[in-house]
Amino acid sequence: MADQQEGSKIILVSDLDWTMVNHHDPDHRDLRAFNEVWESQFTTTGSTLIFSSGRSPVLYQELAQEVPLLQPDVLVCSVGTEILLDHMSRTDEAWESYLDGQGWDRNTVLSVVKGCHVDGVQFTLQQETEQRPHKVSYKVHGDSAEQIHKAIEGLRGALDAKRISANVIYSGGVDLDVLPQRASKGKALAFLLEQLGVHTRDEKGEVRMSGKVDAVVVCGDSGNDIELFEVPHVHGCIVANAHDELRQWYEQHGKGNTNMFFASKDGPSGIVECLSHYTFMK
Ligand code: GLC
Ligand code: MG
Repeated sequence: MADQQEGSKIILVSDLDWTMVNHHDPDHRDLRAFNEVWESQFTTTGSTLIFSSGRSPVLYQELAQEVPLLQPDVLVCSVGTEILLDHMSRTDEAWESYLDGQGWDRNTVLSVVKGCHVDGVQFTLQQETEQRPHKVSYKVHGDSAEQIHKAIEGLRGALDAKRISANVIYSGGVDLDVLPQRASKGKALAFLLEQLGVHTRDEKGEVRMSGKVDAVVVCGDSGNDIELFEVPHVHGCIVANAHDELRQWYEQHGKGNTNMFFASKDGPSGIVECLSHYTFMK
């Protein structure tokens, strides 16, 4: 641990919508309060701020113009399929070409989804900006949660049958993203942590923290954040306003783990609460 007078040196990875950004707070006082904590206690220790959003770069820019977000060191967009390094000045091309391998074909994804029918469930393509080289995104509407789950399972089976190696992620009770199997917010983070030398592998190939930072803290509220919490050695922060799909994950996999914190506050206030809970703040 770093000297507690200085606060800790951490990597903070946060989702944006409803985690770093509380859209119910018109003045974004709670985001400004987080920013103050970050700038006063963590920039001085050489900590790293990473935003990991489902949004495309276009919708990220829209949000950044609407709310007082800090400039992140690294921006991960489109549910982990796009990594923008060095304050968003360059894309991580190694990551994107890695995603091209292993049976990814977005046209086949489009036609498989078209052919999937479950009574009472509709998949509707999201707006054009959100269709990306390694991400095909829909809105899902259905008569019941059960039917939606059945339709998603059917879609997974149909993609398998066409040998499309895909990761199908359901978030916020309405969004459905189809990504290459190799992609997710969690897989992008694992890749980055190795690239940054924060994770190393021991002789057995197991992932270890290298000691470069005191901790990696991941924060989220919905289904596309689940894989962030599954990255080895992370400290988790689930904000109070989390969606059912993440709550269910917590009940099954997070509860009882002292490195998984369920905040009592919403959005950015929950993140500050978590940093204090883990005693990373001075
Ligand atoms: C963001 C993206 C959308 C995606 C959703 C969930 O809202 O704009 O395309 O489906 O996150 O990952
Ligand atoms: Mg979110």
